[in-house]
Amino acid sequence: MYRRFIRPLLFALPIERAHRLVALVLRGIGMIPGGRWCLDKCFAVRHPALEREVFGRRFANPIGLAAGFDPNGEVCREWGAAGFGFIEVGTVTPRPQPGNPRPRIFRLPKDRAIISRIGMANRGLEKTIQYLRRPHEGLIVGCNIGRNAATPAEEAPADYLKLFRNLYQYADYFSVNLCCDNACDENFTHSREYVLRILEPLFDFRRGQNQYRPVMLKISPDLTDEEVDTITDILIDTPLDGIVATNGTHRREGLHTSRTSIEKIGSGRLTGPTLTARTIEIVRRIHARSGGTYPIIAVGGLMSVDDARALFAAGADLVQLYTGFVYEGPRLVRDICRALIADAQPPQPVEGKEQEEPALQETDDSAECPKVDE
Ligand SMILES: Cc1cc2nc3c(=O)[nH]c(=O)nc-3n(C[C@H](O)[C@H](O)[C@H](O)COP(=O)(O)O)c2cc1C
Repeated sequence: MYRRFIRPLLFALPIERAHRLVALVLRGIGMIPGGRWCLDKCFAVRHPALEREVFGRRFANPIGLAAGFDPNGEVCREWGAAGFGFIEVGTVTPRPQPGNPRPRIFRLPKDRAIISRIGMANRGLEKTIQYLRRPHEGLIVGCNIGRNAATPAEEAPADYLKLFRNLYQYADYFSVNLCCDNACDENFTHSREYVLRILEPLFDFRRGQNQYRPVMLKISPDLTDEEVDTITDILIDTPLDGIVATNGTHRREGLHTSRTSIEKIGSGRLTGPTLTARTIEIVRRIHARSGGTYPIIAVGGLMSVDDARALFAAGADLVQLYTGFVYEGPRLVRDICRALIADAQPPQPVEGKEQEEPALQETDDSAECPKVDE
């Protein structure tokens, strides 16, 4: 249904307008009594085999919506009802920021990819608190935090700390975004010295709190293997809880879209299938170097059930998607959930009896569902 009817409709609109439409539809559904329940019945797959315990939090399933889709958590409860086990809100910055001039997000349908230089457009800390104050029981909500574009690098720790302190009671975990869409030296923002200057004030603040909030680092896929090792060593040496790998890439290799079109689009982070292999490599590297004992959230190029299996096999505890959701809709989340259930319950051949499917509490494709995709 998504691919045949909803995607063509959404793809007829500029991507940001399509996003806004989806958010409005979800908001509308959330406001109707029983709307979220209906969404849940249509899309969510609930099964004990999907549940995960990661960094002390219980996830209904290990598939999350990646940062950027709902920058301020406007409809996070609805995303949960649409089948996600968790959502990463953000990137939130202390002050609202408009981001880069439009157009700044581009679909590459031939590659099932997206190029984005949105520039962390978001409505700021206060608005996010307003949204996250609403109860979201049963859904894990992470908060991806970053510095304002106007904040110089030397003042960045203050921005991160302000966000961490103020959002501490509203988020289940934090993801410290070290990447930037605009001109910024990522080798510098991923250096040990810079990362520690950002993280240490957060650890100090956390030490004084009654409740523990895990802190993850979200990294770029354009790091060299040595830089990935440096980040992994920070994970081992400090109270950092885990790594979110990865954001979009600035590279442009392996695309089918014409070179002219790519050049016309210009700068930005490329997401989608061309990222898959590097994401798997990075996850495997972190997992191996850290002895497989630290949580890893894999994101980048998750476009199919097989990609999800490969990411879990490489060492991911949880996965997230963005571009896969734009191209495949909620069916992708559902298919991954079903595959995980099947993988957890290998068929036990019983003589003279056909194998039964595990009982899933969800409706089939033909059910009448609200149109709430992308
Ligand atoms: C339009 C767009 C906006 C994004 N905004 C953010 C953001 O604000 N913060 C962030 O950490 N990642 C952001 N991302 C990156 C995604 O969270 C994710 O890491 C990336 O898209 C790779 O996953 P994918 O291949 O499944 O899309 C954005 C991605 C896109 C396409």
